[in-house]
Amino acid sequence: MNGGGVSGGLAVIGVLGLSMVIAARWRSDRMSNEAYARDWDAGESADPLGEFCNTDTNISSNSPISANIGRLLPRLVSGASLNGFISTSYGKAKNKLYGLAQCRGDISSNDCSSCIQDAAKEIRKRCPNQADARIWYDYCFLRYTTNNFFGEVDTYVGIFYYNVEDVTDPKAFNKKLGALMDKINSEAVVPAIANKALGKGKTKVSPFVTIYALVQCTRDLSPQSCGECLATATGNFPNICDNKKGCRVLYSSCYVRYEVFPFFFPLGSQESLANTSMAYYRSIVSKP
Ligand SMILES: *[C@@H]1O[C@H](CO)[C@@H](O)[C@H](O)[C@H]1NC(C)=O
Ligand SMILES: *[C@@H]1O[C@H](CO)[C@@H](O)[C@H](O)[C@H]1NC(C)=O
Repeated sequence: MNGGGVSGGLAVIGVLGLSMVIAARWRSDRMSNEAYARDWDAGESADPLGEFCNTDTNISSNSPISANIGRLLPRLVSGASLNGFISTSYGKAKNKLYGLAQCRGDISSNDCSSCIQDAAKEIRKRCPNQADARIWYDYCFLRYTTNNFFGEVDTYVGIFYYNVEDVTDPKAFNKKLGALMDKINSEAVVPAIANKALGKGKTKVSPFVTIYALVQCTRDLSPQSCGECLATATGNFPNICDNKKGCRVLYSSCYVRYEVFPFFFPLGSQESLANTSMAYYRSIVSKP
């Protein structure tokens, strides 16, 4: 599998990063750090981490496809809210749409439901005239298009967030990180029905530094395809997240994240969601 989805067309799109930073500042003026962290970590904000509106698939708002998107979305919302995942189609012939919605496998069904509801609302606001659209949140992902993409690995569009701060001991950090990623990738790469295609874990680098990591594939993928997506995602670390304290890779087929603070559930008895500010993160969007 190529890792080259990134190297070929690495485009730094400042707009997204900038708007995240502005949003973070705007909000921190109005909320205590704790409330802000809760808001951010709860993933309940209507601000997605990114979206992709494929401008090669323009449609008009009174087209049959647009009407079918309107019918598909409530099905995606209810299916994902119920099971954390749904892949389904709606419509006939050339107006048929394929849709997928998935929540991160560790979150509560309430958080899942509210994330997917936001996603369904926002995707139509942000991609009102496209038949192929995708939207990423920390807690969920939603997409639809007219091609049957179920089961296919898609690393076409990538959204990357990295912590601007470097780790203090890169050699030890990278060794532990590599071992942890191998371990959780192999947890994810079993039939999705068994574990939601999810892997997560933590490892101590020193008495003061612990790495937390989580990976998940969309649950329509075979174990082999899941492994392919995770390998591509993790393969970006040296290019984009080299020696960084945190990294997130969002593809249409998998999610990979590591941080030096707890961010997934269930939290350990001594753990709480850390106060993190998006001001410490920069984003990159890559398209071929
Ligand atoms: C987060 O910030 C709040 C307010 O500044 C503080 O009370 C709380 O202890 C912090 N939590 C952590 C885990 O640092
Ligand atoms: C699709 O629409 C967008 C604006 O909404 C435009 O920028 C783009 O060029 C259009 N794409 C095609 C292939 O016509």
